[in-house]
Amino acid sequence: MLSRVVSKRAFSISRVNPYKVSILGAAGGIGQPLSLLMKLNEKVTDLRLYDLRGAKGVAADLSHIPTNSTVNGFTPEDENGLHNALKDTELVIIPAGVPRKPGMTRDDLFSINAGIVRDLASAVADAAPNAAVLVISNPVNSTVPIVSEVLKSKGVYNPKKLFGVTTLDVIRSSRFISEVVGTNPTNEKVTVVGGHSGITIIPLLSQTQHQSIPEDQKKALIHRIQFGGDEVVKAKNGAGSATLSMALAGSRFANSVLRGFAGEKDVVEPSFVDSPLFKSEGIEFFASPVTLGANGIEKVHPIGAVSAEEEQMLEECKETLKKNIQKGIDFASAKK
Ligand code: NAI
Repeated sequence: MLSRVVSKRAFSISRVNPYKVSILGAAGGIGQPLSLLMKLNEKVTDLRLYDLRGAKGVAADLSHIPTNSTVNGFTPEDENGLHNALKDTELVIIPAGVPRKPGMTRDDLFSINAGIVRDLASAVADAAPNAAVLVISNPVNSTVPIVSEVLKSKGVYNPKKLFGVTTLDVIRSSRFISEVVGTNPTNEKVTVVGGHSGITIIPLLSQTQHQSIPEDQKKALIHRIQFGGDEVVKAKNGAGSATLSMALAGSRFANSVLRGFAGEKDVVEPSFVDSPLFKSEGIEFFASPVTLGANGIEKVHPIGAVSAEEEQMLEECKETLKKNIQKGIDFASAKK
């Protein structure tokens, strides 16, 4: 009897949520723990891992975990390796690229990562044109516009399915604010808007219930949220940037997209997306909370009421964002 119940349930999971997920850059610092977390996600039935090297080993390792998915690794040595890693998947997560070393900004990564992301986006357009694309590779403010331009040039751009992953800023905010106000971080929610680097990261503390944080502590908290990545880069001392917390953030965001696909209601996460909010000011992409549904983004939410101080931060953010976005668009439009 029990076995009948169990097998019925297993059947229904694989029928209701048969999601195929590709991770590009899967053997890297983020890629490996992210692949592990996606292997544990019961909505995923087919997990494909691609990397220049090491993807087969990671896939073989994860394939021994008894969850409801197959895992396969692909490298450029395989015939059509990248294409087969992507063929008809519903969700593509891209953490491929180089991370920061001490003293570097995310923008310093552009010269290497822009080309990597452009080429991977081109393969996504050919092999998985309907997939939701989650970009982790930095600088996100520029790599997301690169992906959009590539997909546009191939006639498959769907603005509802392109996401810059900013969830790490969101989880850092929960953690850091809880340290200041002495609460449980799992109950803390801070809306973070703007972009994903330094001053473009804007935590809207005025929208939290913590209005009595002294001014100097508030300034320090905002700075820590904006530049929290530097703490990790410095502590790793040349061995990279955030990987474990980023894997958790990436997996949480990917799961939210899959929850939306599966028809769950009211799934809302901030993300850096093709946004109507400041288009009239020439800003094509902006991070704000979005509702995720069966077809990707259902609604881009406005940022809501902000304080005078946040308004000022927004102005500075927009100036930088505009340049970062244009840099990505120019790169993608230039001849190879
Ligand atoms: P890593 O160097 O440990 O791993 C990157 C992986 O990408 C390597 O395994 C490498 O072989 C692979 N790769 C490089 N070119 C590739 C290509 N053309 N195709 C497939 N795979 C390729 O770096 P890590 O720490 O995993 O970081 C990856 C990226 O994520 C960096 O750009 C980093 O700045 C970014 N990042 C983004 C965050 C965010 O909040 N969005 C947070 C932390 C890092």
